[in-house]
Amino acid sequence: MQNHSADSIERLVGLLPRAMRNQIEQWGEAAAVLSASRDPRVAASLLPSGVRGLFLKRGKQGIPTQMPAHHLAHFDWRYPSDQPEMADLYARAKQGQWNADDLPWHTSVDPLDPTVALLPEGFLDIEGLTAYGVRLDQREKIKMQASLCAWMLSQFLHGEQGALFAAAQVTEAVQFFDGKLYGSTQVMDEGRHVEVFRRYLDEKLGRLYQINDNLFVVIDALMTDGRWDMKFLGMQIMVEGLALGAFGVLHRRTEEPLLKQLLRQVIQDEARHVHYGVVALREHVTHALSERERREREDWAFEVALLMRDRFLAHELYDEWFAHRMTRAQWREFISNSPGMREFRHTMFRRMVPNLREIGLLSDRIRPHYEAVGLMEYYHGAAADKLTADELIRELS
Ligand SMILES: [Fe+2]
Ligand SMILES: [Fe+2]
Repeated sequence: MQNHSADSIERLVGLLPRAMRNQIEQWGEAAAVLSASRDPRVAASLLPSGVRGLFLKRGKQGIPTQMPAHHLAHFDWRYPSDQPEMADLYARAKQGQWNADDLPWHTSVDPLDPTVALLPEGFLDIEGLTAYGVRLDQREKIKMQASLCAWMLSQFLHGEQGALFAAAQVTEAVQFFDGKLYGSTQVMDEGRHVEVFRRYLDEKLGRLYQINDNLFVVIDALMTDGRWDMKFLGMQIMVEGLALGAFGVLHRRTEEPLLKQLLRQVIQDEARHVHYGVVALREHVTHALSERERREREDWAFEVALLMRDRFLAHELYDEWFAHRMTRAQWREFISNSPGMREFRHTMFRRMVPNLREIGLLSDRIRPHYEAVGLMEYYHGAAADKLTADELIRELS
């Protein structure tokens, strides 16, 4: 009966003018995201951010967004040396600083030059679009790949803005003094990342896509959560994990030398950030949280991992290129199964899952859920505290 009525609704929606149909499909998707959570507490905690991001589309209004940040600034007037691993990361971060002006910005970049492809042919299975009745000629194919690259870099830039603010907040809120000193270097790193992605998009591609609604939801959720460890988990483990997955794939696949070098530099910084996240959260989860609080983080991380896996699907590109040619459901199917997207998911979870294990958020209770969605194959990998930046680059290359 339920299937029958779902079918009739789908048929009715199919009769609507295309723009209206697209809007209804978007609301359906947003409702599916908000109701997909298996845990009612996690769903409730993500709901306000979900409404702001998915229904109100706050990130797409073309005006600045204000988000209340209710954390406590933690002062320590004794200045203890309290965490040697963080002190070591601070020393390495000072050594690892670089000036974005030193990148070879003189490199000329032509996004439509097929001999120096921003993304290789086959990153998307463009021929597969014919199954949906869409055919692109050679020039359109190259333009479309360049658009996808600009979309990815735009999302990196938006993510880096979130990382910059989260790093600043966590530096205030964290209780480890060595962590505060380290955090000051991360604020600088993230500022530099904003600088390079913005400059590349502006000077080389001449494009900026709006923030993806699902990325907005994650950033909004962790910015407005007063607990520093939730900001940390969200930014240092989940969003940085997503970023490392995407940076890695783009670094491996792009033929454009300036972009390759830029990403290599950024990845080296990010390796320290995730390492810091693992060290700080491992201490905190093991020594400071109650079992109930630990479980809440564990459930939240699982839901956010799924959100990232299933919903980061370049809808802004769909709106620009295909909204008049295929349905959103067809686009979802096409983009999720594309070779580049598969590689991205693999790289992201290969890094993220061992980090979650290391900080104590993959207990026996949650593992069956990871097993059920096919993510346990990554369980035994090396966590960020065991990987040097060079090993990470090698792995990603
Ligand atoms: Fe960054
Ligand atoms: Fe970072």
